[in-house]
Amino acid sequence: MKVGVLTGGGDCPGLNTVIRAVTKSLIAQARAEVIGIEQGFLGLIERRSRPLQWDAVSGINARGGTILGTHNRADPFAYFGANGADVSQAAMAYIAELGLDALVVIGGDGSMAIAERFSRLGLPVVGVPKTIDNDLHHNDRSFGFDTAVATVTDALGRLETTGQSHGRVMILETMGRYSGWIALEAGLAGAADVILLPELPYDVQAVAAVCRAREARRRLTLICIAEAAAPLAGAITVAERIADSPDPLRLGGVAHVLRHQLQRLVTSEVRATVLGHVQRGGAPTPFDRVLAIQFGTHAAMLVQRGEFDRMVRLQAGVLGSIELAAVAGRNRTVPADHPLLASARQIGVCLG
Ligand code: F6P
Repeated sequence: MKVGVLTGGGDCPGLNTVIRAVTKSLIAQARAEVIGIEQGFLGLIERRSRPLQWDAVSGINARGGTILGTHNRADPFAYFGANGADVSQAAMAYIAELGLDALVVIGGDGSMAIAERFSRLGLPVVGVPKTIDNDLHHNDRSFGFDTAVATVTDALGRLETTGQSHGRVMILETMGRYSGWIALEAGLAGAADVILLPELPYDVQAVAAVCRAREARRRLTLICIAEAAAPLAGAITVAERIADSPDPLRLGGVAHVLRHQLQRLVTSEVRATVLGHVQRGGAPTPFDRVLAIQFGTHAAMLVQRGEFDRMVRLQAGVLGSIELAAVAGRNRTVPADHPLLASARQIGVCLG
């Protein structure tokens, strides 16, 4: 058996852990030959790959990034961009030339959508969910998320001590795209006073009232805001538009927007920090490593059993899989009735 592995979309901590788990598992259990496709789907287009032997994936369990490289714009069905050429047949020809019996795609919603289109062309595919955003449908936890939450929580703790010293309003902007999971969990873990999510448009006056009440008690105000959060009747903050990307909007900068909005309404100084890609870098947490190993070994098992066109997932604490079509190109946002929102409100956190 010959199996290809690729990592697509933005990187996140734990990708190497999965590559290692898939590869070692397939070599040990099925004596398979594993081929690493370089830079995500771009490697299928540009015909770049390399064999992954046991030693090639040793020593990478805790290493951030991906040894295979990745690409967040290379869609073989629209290369580059929505009006781009369909080069999927050329990619299929390369896969046939390599003699692959299956392809393991480690990626987010965009990569799962591409994987699903390949599986409709007859390629046996297994997906593994990765993203710091934790926004894949029918999956409670993607690896990378726990690490990002730990990084944001640490940053909030640091902002708290400096903010308290000066009696400031400290705003921290997280990543997460259109989902507020990172801001919600890290905001709670980091004891933020205000947590602002894309799912709940915020009222600047309500946030300012919290800051003023805390000012009166000589307390700092710690605000954790997700990059796609927006004021009531306002728009999300776009940092950049990348024309040839399947997901052309790059978010970022809402912390500065909020800073300007708030500074007019409060007495203390308001400061903003945009954490950015720090959240995607570095070593995965032990939780993410264990999850990545579980996902990787489960994906290898699906390949051996011939159960294709599926994505590995964790739901209600149970490891399993789901049809790619059910998750492809969809986002999981924080539902209005999520228990963590209730917990936040119960302890007096302002949700905007
Ligand atoms: O999807 C992961 C993510 O880090 C998002 O949270 C963020 O909006 C986006 O990717 C940033 O993408 P890029 O690395 O292309 O700037």
